[in-house]
Amino acid sequence: MEQQGTAAAADSVYIGPRKVAVWPADQQINRIDVNVFSTFFTDMGEFRDVLTRKILERAAAHRDILPTTSRGMGGQKIYDMDNWGVPEIDLIRERMLAMFRKMLNKPTASIERGWINVYQTHDYSMAHSHRRATASLVYFHDLGDDDGKDEMGSKFYFADPRMKRCCPHKDGFMSHVFAPEVREGAFLMFPGWMVHLVSPYYGRRPRITFSWNVNENPLPQQVEW
Ligand SMILES: [Fe+2]
Repeated sequence: MEQQGTAAAADSVYIGPRKVAVWPADQQINRIDVNVFSTFFTDMGEFRDVLTRKILERAAAHRDILPTTSRGMGGQKIYDMDNWGVPEIDLIRERMLAMFRKMLNKPTASIERGWINVYQTHDYSMAHSHRRATASLVYFHDLGDDDGKDEMGSKFYFADPRMKRCCPHKDGFMSHVFAPEVREGAFLMFPGWMVHLVSPYYGRRPRITFSWNVNENPLPQQVEW
């Protein structure tokens, strides 16, 4: 398990007999805002269904152990995915770490914490930031099947007065939230201090994302959460 570690970077991951490049030569990173980036991997759809089944099996097994206490806690969270021995998850993690190293020009990347979010109908995530992260990264595995009745529903938003897009009328005065365009197979990277949220999910198929807090080097052990 790589949490609090700085394991050597992998160039490729075997999924069955297939050797998959962690970072294809033509992979592009898009700048969404000053310090917000996204990248989209064209091959992730090939692994999506098998991985969804594994995640939902684990989510069902964890449900009695880790009940969510509020709809606003960001759905069900699963923390032990790096111990499952699932190569598709290894690929996602290695791609995430590669993005961190590339964008911050760092030789190493250390996961402070990583988890999977499984949103069921009406789950949402209250606005928050990640104080133990140089950067936070999100992987959009399955956006679910939003019913389309609320155009502000089922979306990832930034809501931060330090982000110009959130303050179109006066710097420092937040009047807008900003939803970056995301799609399944995409990663989003942003500073840990940037306030973000997920609006209520209205679909029926579980919405599944991965989240990580990442630093160049391991942090001292946390004494509180
Ligand atoms: Fe978050």
